[in-house]
Amino acid sequence: MDKIIIEGGHPLKGEGKISGAKNAALPILVSSLLADGWNTYTNVPDLKDIESTIMLLSKLGAKIEREKDTVRINASGLNNYEAPYDLVRKMRASILVLGPLVARLKKARVSLPGGCAIGARPINLHLKGLSRLGASIDMEHGYIEAKADCLKGNTIYFDITTVTGTENIMMAAVLAQGETVIRNAAREPEIVALSDVLNKMGADIKGAGTSKITIKGVSSLKPVSVSIIPDRIEAGTFMIASAATCGDITLTGCEPDHLEAVIHKLSLTGADITIDESAMRVLGSDEIKSVDVKTLPYPGFPTDMQAQFMVLMSVARGLSIISETVFENRFIHVSELKRMGANIKVSGNTAMIQGVRRLSGAPVMATDLRASASLVLAGLVAGGTTEINRIYHLDRGYQSIEKKFARLGAAIKRVKG
Ligand code: EPZ
Repeated sequence: MDKIIIEGGHPLKGEGKISGAKNAALPILVSSLLADGWNTYTNVPDLKDIESTIMLLSKLGAKIEREKDTVRINASGLNNYEAPYDLVRKMRASILVLGPLVARLKKARVSLPGGCAIGARPINLHLKGLSRLGASIDMEHGYIEAKADCLKGNTIYFDITTVTGTENIMMAAVLAQGETVIRNAAREPEIVALSDVLNKMGADIKGAGTSKITIKGVSSLKPVSVSIIPDRIEAGTFMIASAATCGDITLTGCEPDHLEAVIHKLSLTGADITIDESAMRVLGSDEIKSVDVKTLPYPGFPTDMQAQFMVLMSVARGLSIISETVFENRFIHVSELKRMGANIKVSGNTAMIQGVRRLSGAPVMATDLRASASLVLAGLVAGGTTEINRIYHLDRGYQSIEKKFARLGAAIKRVKG
């Protein structure tokens, strides 16, 4: 298995371009199932999760062409309603095909995605939403079987805001008979991006980005050509890298409006952030202030930025408190950061971080996507050498992260395992 080796202590300098958003691309590529004809998607990031999604869609009968950051998908030949275990286990977001398959083929058989490192991650709300639209739901042998001769609009209230749950129901409801209202809907930019694409396909969705989304069913949709929005989590990760290494980097191809909570918190730590349309410059301060953070659904501080922010707090002055309210087990990175000299105490969903002068490089193990990113950031600021194993987690969500950091002056390389 490949690993990443980092010699820490180099301030990052220069300019980097942010890739398309993984968590927008996944549901948008899946939305191609809802129409016949060729859809063209540009600014698609080159990630393992995109490869998995393309593999799944072609297994369902879609034709797919890919040229650099452009992916073209034609689902006219959609002829298989089963998403098998060996694909779903690699990427739990495969559950997103459930809604579109029931909408188009009137049935779906999708392997139950298991839990993952950060939590149990149930899909009960996805299934509750689908049954509210009239689908019958059975579960056997580790598979969900959903059927509906004709989905009918209804009001769906999500007890918890769920990003992919909102996306799944949106995609099921666009071809349903009548009106669907989703209450307590997730408000992430990726939801708005999906809604924009579906409306461009001929859907009638209002309210995406708010907690109430109204969808009037239409009889059919047409294919589109769209570009994927920038990845706010990749951008946030690089912003923190600049702040943590007392660097000076400019990120282009971003959407600062999607990062308000991160920009606010990062500014409080003493970083100087300048915004110019789709570019952001982050000037690190040699004295990092401790700042408390609580993760929340959008527009709150994103849970996907929690591990990265913890690295910054590990080398800040004073005590900071980070509360993780979205997932029940998202402090896995703490034990690895402590092996690098971080002073962190965890109690339940709260971590108390006492900043130290410097982290020290060590061999560490990646466990999930964002925890892996935090280990890269820790390696960049630590004294000495850090070796990160199991970096396939990183490749799921960051496009050539070591090349991007090397171009910014980091002493970082990938070693083929
Ligand atoms: C999406 O996951 C993202 N993934 C995650 O990003 C992100 O961390 C998460 O939203 C929260 O922002 C994609 O968009 C592909 P949720 P999702 O449903 O949709 C509970 C990354 O690193 N819940 O919003 O799976 C759930 O357990 C990944 O890019 C239920 O109880 O998250 C969690 O506590 C990691 N029942 C909370 O809701 C359900 O049916 C929020 O989960 C669904 C969710």
